[in-house]
Amino acid sequence: MKHTDIKDIIEKDGFIGKEVTVCGWVRTARDSKNVAFLALNDGSSLNHLQIVIDKATLSDVDPEATKLGASLKVIGTVVKNERNNTNEVNAKEIIVLGKCPGDYPLQKKFQKLETLREMPHIRVRTNTFNAVFRVRSVMAAAIHRFFQERGYVYINTPLITGSDAEGAGEMFQVTTIGFNPEYKTAEEYYSNDFFGKKTSLSVSGQLEGEIAAMGLGKIYTFGPSFRAENSNTQRHVAEFWHIEPEIAFCELEDLIEIAEEMIKYVVKDYMEKCPEELKFFEDRFEKGLTEKLLSVVNSDFAIVDYTDAIDILQKADVKFEFPVEWGCDLQSEHERYITEVVYKKPVFLINYPKGIKSFYMKQNPDGKTVAATDLLVPGVGEIIGGSEREADYDKLIAAMKEKGMGLEDYEAYLDLRKYGSVPHSGFGLGFERIIMYCTGMANIRDVILYPRTVGNIK
Ligand code: 4AD
Repeated sequence: MKHTDIKDIIEKDGFIGKEVTVCGWVRTARDSKNVAFLALNDGSSLNHLQIVIDKATLSDVDPEATKLGASLKVIGTVVKNERNNTNEVNAKEIIVLGKCPGDYPLQKKFQKLETLREMPHIRVRTNTFNAVFRVRSVMAAAIHRFFQERGYVYINTPLITGSDAEGAGEMFQVTTIGFNPEYKTAEEYYSNDFFGKKTSLSVSGQLEGEIAAMGLGKIYTFGPSFRAENSNTQRHVAEFWHIEPEIAFCELEDLIEIAEEMIKYVVKDYMEKCPEELKFFEDRFEKGLTEKLLSVVNSDFAIVDYTDAIDILQKADVKFEFPVEWGCDLQSEHERYITEVVYKKPVFLINYPKGIKSFYMKQNPDGKTVAATDLLVPGVGEIIGGSEREADYDKLIAAMKEKGMGLEDYEAYLDLRKYGSVPHSGFGLGFERIIMYCTGMANIRDVILYPRTVGNIK
């Protein structure tokens, strides 16, 4: 169906006086005796195109064309509306592509995000979700461009795994057979299953990413990861999109530079490409969003040692719900205090106690901490988790044993440390988390098309 994007007609010169065909959904309709106005939106822009129906010249318009939510094809001439200096279309012909009955759920101008969550198939037609998903697309492209321009190889790591990947979280089991009391033991059950052993959805592509980086040097992944935690928070979903670069010949300080450069690149690109969406989010969801993002682009992120952060938290004049002591995993209230109250900007926390971090992280000479980093940002908390990897074969085995891990599933991973091991590092960025940060959307369920959370599989 040949037609012109509404965005082009609104924004580009050269359409005035020309006949165009546009398609879209009716967002509002105003009718009067001599003239009717429709606001048409096709998803290409936050702005609607005004369609003017002069009843003297177009008398036989289908009444279904002026119903909220109806989908139309309109042929008409582009004219300049002198009052507000925007382009609009004087309709010559209107074809109703799809009628929309009166029970269309988007009757009210603004609906609560919670209500819209109940209809993920309809909410994309609102300004909010139109903007969120356009920004999501622009940011995905920016992430790819950032890595591609710097020579990283895009790798697709498997989603089905036979190991527990890295102990990053609870896993979803993959099976073709349900429970059957015929099986006497778990081994018997699993050996009859598709892969002949217990398999799960991967929580991270990191371990395979490391394998790829040990031949390709610099790689990144961009795909879904799955976590079966029962965490019903505003920033957890069971299926999220994960960007995981892995870089050979790279130490923790290099990794931090790359992460900061990537965040700045993506934020800047979003600000340049989506000024209208940014303004919309600023007006509706987060006052000061533009200023916040400008300062992200223009100032250095803080780098704070975990031990110093504990000190700051212990001296803070605040009653935290969870007590703070060296060795504890920081709760979101602690992360928020550090990044929102103390530094008021993104903070790389580094050198965490080894007891609360994964086995693969490089052990620091102090014997107590690992060369890990999390990037915490105001409002959202952790958006990146990463580390330098332990490149020493014996130290890695010792760490795995200390954590009570079996070595059988990690032969390939250990081989990397046997054959030409190199210092290397990587991180994982939660795609939805950075979208939340850049849009001011407070709930992760509102930045992914179909949020998967405990008890919710709409
Ligand atoms: O800190 P995580 O668990 O780190 C890893 O998975 C490492 N393998 C990454 C690496 O070094 N290659 O997760 C990384 C990021 C988090 O900082 C967060 O942004 C996001 O993934 N994330 C989630 N996002 C939404 N819902 C969840 N349930 C998430 N779990 C992690």
